[in-house]
Amino acid sequence: MEEKIKHLIEEVDAFRVESKEQLESFRLKFLSKKGILAEVFSEMKSIEPALRKDVGKWVNELKNKAEEKLRIGAEELESSSDTGEADIDFTLPGEPNELGARHPLSIVRRDIIDIFGRIGYTVAYGPEIEDDWHNFSALNFPDNHPARDMQDTFFIEKNPDIALRTHTSSVQVRVMETTKPPIRILAPGLVYRNEAISARAHCFFHQIEGLYVDEGVSFADLKQTLYYFAQQMFDEKTQVRFRPSYFPFTEPSAEMDISCNICGGKGCNVCKYSGWVEILGCGMVHPNVLENCKIDSKKYSGFAFGMGIERIAMLRYQINDLRIFSENDVRFLKQFTSL
Ligand code: PHE
Repeated sequence: MEEKIKHLIEEVDAFRVESKEQLESFRLKFLSKKGILAEVFSEMKSIEPALRKDVGKWVNELKNKAEEKLRIGAEELESSSDTGEADIDFTLPGEPNELGARHPLSIVRRDIIDIFGRIGYTVAYGPEIEDDWHNFSALNFPDNHPARDMQDTFFIEKNPDIALRTHTSSVQVRVMETTKPPIRILAPGLVYRNEAISARAHCFFHQIEGLYVDEGVSFADLKQTLYYFAQQMFDEKTQVRFRPSYFPFTEPSAEMDISCNICGGKGCNVCKYSGWVEILGCGMVHPNVLENCKIDSKKYSGFAFGMGIERIAMLRYQINDLRIFSENDVRFLKQFTSL
């Protein structure tokens, strides 16, 4: 009898729960009214009283083990049905979380916004699909200006009034139409131009526009603000120079160059051996633009500037092909993880 019970204990020990049905047949076999334990207990009655104590110990062990198996088996089934995974191996090492990286254009945009944020500029946004008024007319573009030409602008089919904005200057108009001076905003965003794609040009790129309108704003304010920006963005050794230029919406207009931060002004292939690289266009807001936005041009004046984020990122990280910014090659993007 003792031998028989020991075998049964081994059988119980070896039992592994796999399914509800299998656990139920285990229960029927061992613990039900007509099961093995009931049978064993009734057999006990016929055992000699002297042996009963020893055999009883084994029978009790069998009973405890069978009950324990049933309880644990039910628990296991319960928790595995919670996760839907019966066999999670908690000892396996976890999957590492790869560290994400900011896109270099996001880094540069953030830094520009921070630099101007420190002198009171806030951020404004406008739509990428724009009407003629905000992208051109309000900005003093004459009707026949070549920038409206199909070559530069992506128009929406069948509606020459709607186009993908060609610059973030459209946001100047939107802000001036709805805000009273003083105005101090930065407008970052995507712009589109119908250009052949190459290392230096793309059909879309990112700009950041700046606009400051108040009483008594002068060209000296413009120069000092942009000088401050260049020093913060690059380093203290950075010099700036302004060259006269033309934009319909600013008068006077200029382009700003910085001393080449790669060769320090000595001359290299980035600055084409001139020592200077162009980084933005700027100027005093044309009085017509202020008036188009219902701002009194006798009382208020302002300056505006617009720069390409790609261009600044290329200078900062010494990237020589603009296309790489939109190719999403992780080998490139990974290099910016810590910035
Ligand atoms: N919008 C101009 C461009 O796209 C840049 C600019 C902005 C110039 C503001 C002057 C003032 O090139």
